[in-house]
Formats: sequence, C-alpha cells, structure tokens
Amino acid sequence: MADAWFEDEIAEALAPLLPGLAVEVVPEIDSTSTELMRRVRAGRFAPVLLVAERQTAGRGRLGRTWHSAQHARAPASLTFSLGLPLAPRDWSGLSLAVGVSVAESLDASDTAGVRLKWPNDLWVEDRKLGGILIETALLQPDAAERYLVIGIGLNVGAREAAGLSTEPAWIRQWRPLATAPELLREVVLPLVRNVQLFAAQGFAAFAERFAARDTLHGREVTLSDGTEGHCEGVGWGGELLVRTASGMKTVSSSEVSVRPRRTQP
Ligand code: BTN
Repeated sequence: MADAWFEDEIAEALAPLLPGLAVEVVPEIDSTSTELMRRVRAGRFAPVLLVAERQTAGRGRLGRTWHSAQHARAPASLTFSLGLPLAPRDWSGLSLAVGVSVAESLDASDTAGVRLKWPNDLWVEDRKLGGILIETALLQPDAAERYLVIGIGLNVGAREAAGLSTEPAWIRQWRPLATAPELLREVVLPLVRNVQLFAAQGFAAFAERFAARDTLHGREVTLSDGTEGHCEGVGWGGELLVRTASGMKTVSSSEVSVRPRRTQP
C-alpha cells in the first residue's frame, strides 16, 4: 500500500532539517539498526529513516535481543532507525535526550505516566514500553562528525511477557486506537529537532525534562555489578548518580544496567 506509513509527509516535514533524507519502509529485515550500520561500512552516509514492519533479529542494548510484539495484520510494534551524520561537542547523554523526545511525543501532558529509566528505556508503571539503541560509526579518522544510528522500538499493541526480562507495557493501553504509522509520524519530527538541539547544546538542554520523567530518582537501585544504593537522579552530563555505602557513585558506563530494588511489602 503506497504511503501507508505517511512516508511522503514525513519526508517533506524533515527535508528542511535533514536535506537529502530518504524515508524507507520495509516489510521485513533483520534489524533496522544493523542495516544502517552495514550501509555506513559500505560508505553510505546520507540521512535515512528506515522503518521495518517486522524485524527478525532486533537488537537491544548490551547485546540483548529486541523482541517485537507479534501481529497478524497491522504491526503491533513500531521499529525504526534514524541514521544521520552528527558532530556534537559531547555525546554524553544522547540516549537520554532521545528518550525525553519520544516520551514527550507519546505523552505530552504526562497523563499516561510515560517515564524514563536510565539510560535508554521508556517505562509505564514500571513496565517497559520501549527501548533506544544508540550506535555511532567514525566517518573519518579523527573527525568530530560521526554517523549516528538511533534505533527505537516501541510496543504499540498488547504483548506477551514470556521471554522478556521486564514486564511489557504498550501504547494501546491508554490509546486503544493507536497505530504504528501514526505514532511514527508523531514521534519523528520532534526527534530530529531534539537531536539537533542536543548537537548544539548537549544534554544540559534536556536535564530538567529528563528529571521530570526520571523513574529511578529517589529509589533504591542495584547496578549490574551488584552495587546497591539510592538513586539521586542524573548529572548535567547524563551520568547516573547513586549514593552508596562508600559514597556517591557516578555511573556513565554503557556496560552497566540498573534496576530499581523492590521493597518488601
Ligand atoms: C533496548 O531496549 O535495549 C533497546 C531496544 C532498541 C530496539 C530498536 S527496534 C529498531 C532498532 N533496530 C534494532 O535492532 N534495535 C532498535
């Protein structure tokens, strides 16, 4: 079906911000992010928005698998990657800024309670609504500019918890008629604007917006290395601040994951 994903409308809206952007929708691919990284390695650096109705090998952070919700007809997940050259002064906090952008697009007035779980998850009521995977590739040795691939996966329709490490949430829980193409249209223009704001001003421009949706702030957390502590939010560079028995720990490693600790009833 031509333009079922509003490709022309999206391309037109994004053209002034990202000249030369191609909008592509494919019925099936291994992973939209893997595909854009393959293209970079093949020397293709133009901006692209690549949407897949189905991924057969979706990837998450820390080498995990991203499972899309199964669907019979209309896609029950929104899975896409945006690839573009970018040269921010500092890359720290980019996944948080992307999370802020997506959360605000999905839930502008904060009625659904979309929250951000450092560093790259969208949560609703402590269940995972979506995830963000940030990858970059060098364009030239020592160049400030890199090719950035932002991969975003959102649960649109109901999905099974089986096989997931975190219970899922989905957008139709509060927007029963939401479709993946409509959500893409809502999310993608603010996303590009916010990525360009990040390039110009860094995470500082997003710190307060992140804090307003930070689900870990004020909670007891456990890091994947076993460290326990009290989360005190994120710093101006997007690093997680955890007060532990041995003092304040600043967590910026992408190799660390963090979970809120369940308190005993
Ligand atoms: C995570 O939760 O760890 C991040 C999940 C990111 C999933 C998206 S879906 C579109 C893009 N393609 C992928 O293979 N992964 C990202």
